[in-house]
Amino acid sequence: MAKIFVTRKIPGDHLEKLTKDGHEVVISEFNRPLTGEELVKSVAGVDVILSLLTDRIDGDLMDAAGPQLKMVSNYAVGFDNIDVKAATDRGIVVANTPSEEVNEAVAEHTWALALAIARRIVEADEATRRGGYKGWEPDIFLGVNLIGKTLGVIGLGRIGSMVARRARGYNMTVLYNKHEPDPEAEKDLGVVFAPLDELLAKSDFVSLHVPLTEETRHMINKESLAKMKKGSFLINTARGPIVDERDLVEALKAGQLSGAALDVYDNEPNIDPEFLVMPNTITTPHIASATWEARNKMGEDAVGAILDCLAGEKPQNLVNKEVWEKRRK
Ligand code: GLV
Ligand code: GLV
Repeated sequence: MAKIFVTRKIPGDHLEKLTKDGHEVVISEFNRPLTGEELVKSVAGVDVILSLLTDRIDGDLMDAAGPQLKMVSNYAVGFDNIDVKAATDRGIVVANTPSEEVNEAVAEHTWALALAIARRIVEADEATRRGGYKGWEPDIFLGVNLIGKTLGVIGLGRIGSMVARRARGYNMTVLYNKHEPDPEAEKDLGVVFAPLDELLAKSDFVSLHVPLTEETRHMINKESLAKMKKGSFLINTARGPIVDERDLVEALKAGQLSGAALDVYDNEPNIDPEFLVMPNTITTPHIASATWEARNKMGEDAVGAILDCLAGEKPQNLVNKEVWEKRRK
């Protein structure tokens, strides 16, 4: 029997499987992220932590939990909230929850944002709600077509590829950037590799799909924004700190970019207040994976990984593969 701490209640009834399997499950009593102090107290003596991306799981927290801590199962695709190296050094298994359902949900949200920013949907809806619609007019809320435009996908992993595939429906040219050109993806998706500067210069829409690492932190900054095509759009459904928010505000104010559609922020849950008053921004509250299908699958996978690990089977979405042979048991 293992002791499992769940840092916040998650949708669906997957947690019941842990109890049915004979484990002791403690779910945080708060419907909010725990403070660092609360987290330290809550994890003491547990074997497994089921964490959310709003929980910072570092080496100190792992040590506070105690030497019996075997696993951190992160209810998220991204795992930049976890010090994976600290976990590996301690023999702690880390798993995450990527799946078709979640990746598709994020890709669909990316397109929802692309269409909404191109066609000024939020701004127009707000005007209508305020009673601003007085009848058809030739020149209100003019946006831009997607058809024939160029989409730049930065990071062509699972989600980036799904975003790129959907661009075919709009007959867009798709440029992508990643560490190495990917001939297979080029054949499969009809995408074209471009060095970052070229991608920024040629794309009408730039969409970010890289993980947050020291390399990608603030990769979109004053310099890279200046390299973007004038009047282009930026979409971020990846991680906020990939973009220097202050620099983005300035680029929008200067008209260098026509708009930005963001689901994630540099310092969540804080959002630069200027984004909230500019008409050419869309700010969704980190909901790209918020579909019933995706969140249900995330619960199934986060719990499934725990059951696998406790049964001595390698979880399908093991983040630190090198830990397996030397893991804590
Ligand atoms: C959401 O941002 C996730 O990483 O799952
Ligand atoms: C618009 O409603 C049109 O008919 O052109």
